[in-house]
Amino acid sequence: MKRTCFALALTLASTGALAADGAFNSAEDAIDYRQAAFGLIKENFSDMWAMMKDKKPMDEKAFAQRAQHLALLAQIPFTGFDVAGSDKGDTSALPAIWQKRDEFDAKASQFQLATERLAQVTQSGDAGDIKKAFGAVGKTCKGCHDNFKAE
Ligand code: HEC
Repeated sequence: MKRTCFALALTLASTGALAADGAFNSAEDAIDYRQAAFGLIKENFSDMWAMMKDKKPMDEKAFAQRAQHLALLAQIPFTGFDVAGSDKGDTSALPAIWQKRDEFDAKASQFQLATERLAQVTQSGDAGDIKKAFGAVGKTCKGCHDNFKAE
């Protein structure tokens, strides 16, 4: 098992598919990468949402872990927008991202800060603070999608 993983890592590294530095092989890769990251963001966010809205029992430990993961994941998608040509193809990213890049980047920063804040307040455990911080994260999703993502 260990050996397989190592071989896989080597293969990925040699094909340049390890995209940690934001380098992608193609625009399609960049689109897949950012969509996959947003998919994980949604998984975490939806589960927290279900707990906040009493759709499932609140598990404080699980909630806090999701909040930590969300703050990490919030760092991931944005290098996927740096690649030329990734405004075309199988994507719901709007041209406004590249036309108003400063505004988009500002929204990304607000999102990252909001998720960090949420991860922090889940440590203190104050229900009111958590609720507020969670609501603030939700607003940053919508605030960006309204301007920069097609329906
Ligand atoms: C700064 C802008 C921005 C923020 C903040 C943001 N998104 Fe997005 N999101 C996008 C863009 C742009 C796309 C389209 C990506 C593409 O199709 O290339 C996207 C796509 C998605 C997708 C679809 C992924 C797929 O499989 O195609 C989901 C789900 C999603 N976002 C959820 C969220 C959630 C939940 C949050 C907040 C917790 C969030 N996003 C925050 C800009 C943002």
